[in-house]
Amino acid sequence: MHEFKLTAQEQAMLDGAEGPGVRRAMEIVATLGRIYGAPDLVPVTHVQIAGVSYKNLGDAGVQFLLDWAAEGAQVRVPTTLNPAGMELDRWEAMGIDPTFAQPQLSAIDAFTTMGVTPTMSCTPYLFPGYTPSRGDHLAWAESSAVIFANSIIGARSNREGGPSALAAAIVGRTPRYGYHLDEQRLADIVVELRCPVRDVADFGALSYVVGKQVGSATLWFADLAEHLPPLPEDITVGGAAGDRLKTLGAGLAAYGAVALFHIAGYTPEARDRGEALLKPNARRLVVDSLEPGYTVMDADPDLRQIDLVTVGCPHASLSEIEQIAGMLHGRRVATQLWVTTARITRDRAREAGWVQTIEAAGGQVVADTCAVVAPVRSIGITTMATNAGKMACYAPAHSKVKMRYGSLEQCVEAAVTGVWNG
Ligand code: F3S
Repeated sequence: MHEFKLTAQEQAMLDGAEGPGVRRAMEIVATLGRIYGAPDLVPVTHVQIAGVSYKNLGDAGVQFLLDWAAEGAQVRVPTTLNPAGMELDRWEAMGIDPTFAQPQLSAIDAFTTMGVTPTMSCTPYLFPGYTPSRGDHLAWAESSAVIFANSIIGARSNREGGPSALAAAIVGRTPRYGYHLDEQRLADIVVELRCPVRDVADFGALSYVVGKQVGSATLWFADLAEHLPPLPEDITVGGAAGDRLKTLGAGLAAYGAVALFHIAGYTPEARDRGEALLKPNARRLVVDSLEPGYTVMDADPDLRQIDLVTVGCPHASLSEIEQIAGMLHGRRVATQLWVTTARITRDRAREAGWVQTIEAAGGQVVADTCAVVAPVRSIGITTMATNAGKMACYAPAHSKVKMRYGSLEQCVEAAVTGVWNG
């Protein structure tokens, strides 16, 4: 175990030289550094804060944020926010009660007072100008974003909690342990596939089958590259590969607690270091069927009537919105349809005309929130359909809804007909 060291500037923050808000942040960061045996702190380039919905925060969480903001704390690196419980400027139209909306807006005010950019999305890696670079140290709290940044981009982040991420933003540093270290990025388990993995829903089912068996292990997918097109040059569009990989990562982080996977010959560290990334005692896991995933995730097989079809978990990319617009062109939906995405992505999709096509069909491209963190039961939704593995994992428990799970095509057909087929 190393001795934990702070620089003179960090010690001054801890001693209160920069005010009580910074001292509170440094107390959190330094305490975590000692607990996890870090030698020191590492500067971070970007922070992503999760646990933003009033549904998660409750009154105590909102008060905690207001108090911290009142102490004058300011973030010192670019800092973005996870989805809130509602679309911020359209909550009344969504049917959200003011008793939910007002504390939610207070929480967002507290964040913005501290200098946080109110992006309200779980996909900061899809924002032009925010996508991290390989080797960047981050303090991200959204588990689906952490695994994407670590695995697909080769940046470095632990899975932060909401307060620890905000504290890291205020001091601009995080403890140097875990995935910030080369030796903690080696693979514990080699995953071999013996079945086809074709679309986003299949990648979600794969995330269940693997995630349920591996805990927080780091994974080495030996042959997954054969099932993937190349990543787009501009990752912010998503593309067929980006969309599948964000789904896979989100599900691995939700069904397991995975924060990093490598794909042989494909992800950046695997391309450079090859099998040197395997631990000598790495065990082998063979996946020969996705059926166990579909059986569990398609949780209510007798359910036909769907209230809400929701696509975009993690938040939809430009390429997903384009696909949905293509499928809906000239048609009308019979259920509610939410394509959940980041405001910034919706703006880009609107420029391309895809948002207008979805709206003309009666669907909504919903920003700032999702069907897990929004109070969907209070707006009358009891049955849902999705093509997203993480949504199928969390919505039944968090939002107490019945769930159908399948391909994007099945979801769009269910939205158009109002009935799940398959
Ligand atoms: Fe994002 Fe909500 Fe899914 S926060 S990862 S869309 S559960």
